[in-house]
Amino acid sequence: MRVTRKEPEVGLPERFHFKGGGGGVLHGSTCEAVVCTLAAARDRALSKLGHEGILKLVVYASDQTHATFQKGASIVGIPPANFRILRTSANSGYGLTATIVQRAIEEDVARGLVPLYLCATVGTTGLGAIDRNTCFTGTWLHIDAAYAGSAAICPEFQGHLDGAELADSLSMNPHKWFLTNMDCCCLWVANPTTMTDALSTDPEYLKNVGTASKMAETVDYKDWQIALSRRFRAIKLWVVLRRYGAAGMRAHMRRHIQMAEWFEHVVAADERFEVVVPRNFSLVCFRLRPRFMADKAVEALNRDLLAAVNASGRAFMTHFVVDDKFVIRLAVGGSMTEMRHVRAAWELLKEKANDLIATGC
Ligand SMILES: Cc1ncc(COP(=O)(O)O)c(C=O)c1O
Repeated sequence: MRVTRKEPEVGLPERFHFKGGGGGVLHGSTCEAVVCTLAAARDRALSKLGHEGILKLVVYASDQTHATFQKGASIVGIPPANFRILRTSANSGYGLTATIVQRAIEEDVARGLVPLYLCATVGTTGLGAIDRNTCFTGTWLHIDAAYAGSAAICPEFQGHLDGAELADSLSMNPHKWFLTNMDCCCLWVANPTTMTDALSTDPEYLKNVGTASKMAETVDYKDWQIALSRRFRAIKLWVVLRRYGAAGMRAHMRRHIQMAEWFEHVVAADERFEVVVPRNFSLVCFRLRPRFMADKAVEALNRDLLAAVNASGRAFMTHFVVDDKFVIRLAVGGSMTEMRHVRAAWELLKEKANDLIATGC
């Protein structure tokens, strides 16, 4: 007999739903979502400060935040000198903490500047790190959960989004880990009027029955995005949801995370390797670290190991650099990935590591 586990109810905080005063829209990318929310935050602030106030607006990110945020801030006119990159460290698993953010905000306020927007990430690109407790009154808090937001479909991973109920906006990319084809980014905002105030247009050629009668229930998504026209992205996300269902998607996420957990475990158990950052989701960051080797040589060794693995055509991994350590990233996320593939990837890594160590590279 098949027993289906009863899952606790999970979901976004009420304020991000239309019925709670918020709402959601599908964009093509996190970059677009971030630009739109930055524009909303900027215009909300400038409506009080006046347009010249733009020189005072400050935005915050960590040294692990995706580069797209810096690009977005520059597009909406934030002065480059007012872009703060807050340092993270191994102590907080490379995530932001309330203390780090508070210190930066207080310094800026003391200088007469206006903290505008903080981009907190749940599942950073390089390491899968998590920024926690970063909500500060008056500063727009955006949560970028591009990759790891998918895991929140499982109740046991929702805790990583604790505090999201205080955010102004939240985004995740189903095209990363939610089995949806490029491109698809879900953006939720707590106060859509801030978005439409910044982004709406009202040319004559777009006037129609809906706009003429100013139907209160009309949501015109052209005012929630940069472009006027929209692709029908909802259909592919709907097909994924219908095909797998919530239970299927949870099983998928859990399977991926279990495979990554297994991989992390075997890497940690092999004394020649080291897990560089504790794993949060399905991404494992590790390196080959023979005890006798100097740091400089370790970096070259890992570069060679990654090149050898990828040249084999049997697996594909990427790299990152943290605290001057070159780390290899194994991310489990493919819809067809099975345990045998992850086992094979580990065998391949050991085989290439043995070759490199034997030849004295
Ligand atoms: C955490 C995070 N944010 C943002 C992005 C950029 O996403 P997009 O290409 O949808 O703009 C990525 C891509 O890797 C990411 O990992």
